[in-house]
Amino acid sequence: MTVGSVLVTGGTGYIGSFTALALLEADYKVVIVDNLYNSSKECLNRIELISGKRPEHYTLDITDEPALDKVFDDHPDIDSVIHFAALKAVGESAEIPLEYYRVNVYGTICLLRSMTRHNVTNIVFSSSATVYGDATRFENMIPIPEHCPIGPTNPYGRTKATNELIITDHVEAQRNNAKKEGKSGDQWNAALLRYFNPAGSHPSGIMGEDPQGVPYNLLPLLAQVAVGKREKLLVFGDDYSSKDGTAIRDYIHILDLAAGHLVALNYLRDQHPGVRAWNLGTGKGSTVFEMIKSFSHAVGRDLPYEVVGRRAGDVLDLTANPKRANEELKWKAKLTLEDACEDLWRWTKNNPQGYRQQPPAEFLEKLKAGKK
Ligand SMILES: NC(=O)c1ccc[n+]([C@@H]2O[C@H](COP(=O)([O-])OP(=O)(O)OC[C@H]3O[C@@H](n4cnc5c(N)ncnc54)[C@H](O)[C@@H]3O)[C@@H](O)[C@H]2O)c1
Repeated sequence: MTVGSVLVTGGTGYIGSFTALALLEADYKVVIVDNLYNSSKECLNRIELISGKRPEHYTLDITDEPALDKVFDDHPDIDSVIHFAALKAVGESAEIPLEYYRVNVYGTICLLRSMTRHNVTNIVFSSSATVYGDATRFENMIPIPEHCPIGPTNPYGRTKATNELIITDHVEAQRNNAKKEGKSGDQWNAALLRYFNPAGSHPSGIMGEDPQGVPYNLLPLLAQVAVGKREKLLVFGDDYSSKDGTAIRDYIHILDLAAGHLVALNYLRDQHPGVRAWNLGTGKGSTVFEMIKSFSHAVGRDLPYEVVGRRAGDVLDLTANPKRANEELKWKAKLTLEDACEDLWRWTKNNPQGYRQQPPAEFLEKLKAGKK
């Protein structure tokens, strides 16, 4: 028995694949669309090894509306979408902003149009803490609450903020239009999930982040230093006004983040809140130096780094106030930074080629034994 059917865009990517796993484990049927620009189909096998269930996958581009229409035609049972598909490299977004607006913003418009034609009325959107920009420009906005004014500092963040507005306008319009026709319109809902910094891997050691090119985030870069793929970590700026001069971020374990999507989806389907933004973070900030220390501890030796200048568009502190998600969604990050570091290290050490190699046999044995 399934509890519902969900389309997951970008579902072979890092956060999407872990969310697909969480949905399957909660008895949702999952259909993934992804053009494999930054991911591979191998994660489908890993999801199946862990959950015993396999999501369906279509290789398609989110800007291809007829292809999206066909997926919804094939699956009339889908009533909700979790929308991850996007380009996400902050630095690159300043070099090729039009491509970021095309994929992230136009892609979202295509998705919303196709959803509307097929009466698919719930959307959970991957937004980002980046939409807040530098929250230290206001008093008392660290840790950052959802009512902190939006002010992204780079094109990537602006595509996310723009999508939040587009989704809000569309859902509100659909609700109003339905009311004009004497209908409720309550089936139209959106969750704007503002993630802080996702980190970590599956504790089984067979599923993790496996980007196609250079990773963009601190922990995967550190992991590459640890396995010798990279000589040292570059630390962008040690002249911020934090306790050790490096920038502060809120690292959230990928399993907690995936669970956040599940509860947000259930909330939309059960409570019909309209449009609502929620921060998904732990509420605890860590500096870059603290992260290097934590990950070095998991690895068992000090990892080399070099301090270089600040990166354009970076801000001092992105730490979440997660109270709204804690109270409304009854969701709380349970895993620690140490868990994220250990899980990431287990994944990286034992799978240096990521999904381009077989998973370690002893991990598969353990999985099998655990299922008996
Ligand atoms: N990882 C982070 O630090 C972070 C933080 C905040 C928000 N987000 C957002 O979360 C979402 C998922 O991020 P992720 O870290 O899993 O990234 P990811 O790159 O692993 O996943 C994105 C997926 O979208 C797919 N994709 C890209 N362009 C596409 C297109 N035109 N058509 C179809 N599929 C396409 C990629 O192949 C990839 O599988 C993104 O929207 C990202 O902006 C990520």
